[in-house]
Amino acid sequence: MSSGDFSPKAVLVTGGAGFIGSNFVRFVLSNWDDVRVINLDGLTYAGNLENLADVAGDPRYTLEKLDICETEAVIEICRKHGVDSIIHFAAESHVDRSIVGPREFVRTNVDGTLSLLQAARSCGDLRFLQIGTDEVYGSLGPTGQFTETTPLDPHSPYSASKAAADHLVSAFGTTYGLPVLITRCSNNYGPYQFPEKMIPLMINNARQDKPLPVYGDGANVRDWIYVEDHCRALWTVLINGQPGRVYNIGGNSERANLDVVKTILRHLGKPESLITFVKDRPGHDFRYAIDSSRIHKELGWEPAVDFDTGLKHTIQWYLNHLDWLDHIVTGAYQKYYEEMYAGR
Ligand code: NAD
Ligand code: TYD
Repeated sequence: MSSGDFSPKAVLVTGGAGFIGSNFVRFVLSNWDDVRVINLDGLTYAGNLENLADVAGDPRYTLEKLDICETEAVIEICRKHGVDSIIHFAAESHVDRSIVGPREFVRTNVDGTLSLLQAARSCGDLRFLQIGTDEVYGSLGPTGQFTETTPLDPHSPYSASKAAADHLVSAFGTTYGLPVLITRCSNNYGPYQFPEKMIPLMINNARQDKPLPVYGDGANVRDWIYVEDHCRALWTVLINGQPGRVYNIGGNSERANLDVVKTILRHLGKPESLITFVKDRPGHDFRYAIDSSRIHKELGWEPAVDFDTGLKHTIQWYLNHLDWLDHIVTGAYQKYYEEMYAGR
């Protein structure tokens, strides 16, 4: 992979023990010998050091366990490690949890982002890459796509908190000249995703012959992207993106939820009778679809993994990592699952 305008040597990755963050840490360490990664993670329920067990001993990798809201401590860590850029993944990331308890979403996603922006300024205007979501644009009908100029119209407490964070990031670019970049990506899937999200949840239930809870009629559409494609896009934006700009990232793989669930059952050799239609999510966005032409035209990125290949690989990964899955689903997860899905 070619080097670009900006040449990072010490990147602070927030939320590196989560799903996308851990894939990104592994992606960086396996592609660039001369880049150090400092993983700043508070290790919430979603942070799992097992996600990084294979890189934990790498001398280029350091874990700093910290809440991103602790601004002074973040500054100290950035100075100690000579950090030159911040790639900000850390977030409360699950829509359903945000509906039940929105406050933590505002604390981490809004206050936490502000805290990191202040740290970036204090440390000599570090390059700041905000990992955003297409959910800030709201919901589409059966046609059309989100572009970078689509007005923000978030519907869930999660997407509202991510939109607020995006606004703060651009304000720091405009007001203080901080070199900020924002990406907005569609739904990711792949190894190490926490089984509260649809694809790993369905794989986990199906392997145990438990009902697969499809919200509403299953017609809602998501544009799925394989997590490694997202990681490659983020690196491209970090090194070649134009500060102040937003880049949409999509997978060109729109699928209705019911089709995804049926495909998972087929791969696992399980019957469709496991599908259970449950009460819909309040405010459930109907469809997301991303126009990624800007990142394609300006930075030459496009997704490389088609959905069928990526999904097959993902299912096989979970089957090969049942210990990883069992550690999660036998802990606090059980209580979460019972409360979230009770009576639906
Ligand atoms: P995740 O829930 O798997 O991981 C979140 C990580 O952040 C965890 O390691 C957790 O410990 C850490 N964290 C949470 N609160 C923290 C705090 N206050 N201080 C320090 N660390 C904290 O999330 P993910 O699915 O990997 O998503 C990563 C980012 O990508 C998020 O910003 C999310 O909004 C964005 N995103 C996700 C998707 C998706 O499909 N998963 C799509 C687009 C954008
Ligand atoms: P999810 O993985 O939570 O991502 P997001 O809400 O951020 O798009 O959900 C993806 C889709 O799957 C969404 O339309 C809601 C639906 N869904 C179900 O039908 N059942 C489930 O148990 C979950 C978790 C999600």
